[in-house]
Amino acid sequence: MQALKERKSLREFSSKELPLQVISDLLWAANGINRPDSGHRTAPSAMNMQEIDIYLAKTDGLYLFDAQQNMLIPVAGEDIRALTGKQPFVKDAPINLIYVADLSKMSKTSGADADFYAGTDTGFISENAYLYCASAGLATVVRGMIDRPALAKAMKLRPDQKIILAQTVGFLKD
Ligand SMILES: Cc1cc2nc3c(=O)[nH]c(=O)nc-3n(C[C@H](O)[C@H](O)[C@H](O)COP(=O)(O)O)c2cc1C
Repeated sequence: MQALKERKSLREFSSKELPLQVISDLLWAANGINRPDSGHRTAPSAMNMQEIDIYLAKTDGLYLFDAQQNMLIPVAGEDIRALTGKQPFVKDAPINLIYVADLSKMSKTSGADADFYAGTDTGFISENAYLYCASAGLATVVRGMIDRPALAKAMKLRPDQKIILAQTVGFLKD
């Protein structure tokens, strides 16, 4: 009840880095494996497709959250935070999550249905991240205002990967 009471969007971020344990907890809360026997996640997904990947743009580069290993996989060494959204705060916040649908995992559906499921599945993940941030006293905002072609290029995404939303996380600016 307390986390729900505190859940909100905030758009003023300190540039202070987040501790790695906080990042780990955030990613597990967002879409980690909570039932190792079945590999199911903290967020539901349509037909259990688990098609949403979480990328993380940090000061020291771009990472992919590997839920199986509960690890961050380095993807690129450049700081692409400024490209993760059209709002000025995205380049100052320590972390921007990028929710990317892997269409190669969506063969059970296609077209408008695939778009719908990728969008709804991302919504659950984002809300998990919101509730974790509320519980941990962090600021966050989910974002749709993204130059998707520019960001996809910077992330070197494959044609079958589609950027759905991004979400900025950090300490509140003091
Ligand atoms: C799908 C979606 C896209 C959004 N895109 C943006 C965005 O690009 N930039 C932004 O500042 N807020 C964005 N928001 C946050 C909303 O503006 C915010 O949730 C709304 O104003 C209600 O405020 P609250 O989250 O504090 O309740 C988005 C929210 C959703 C659900």
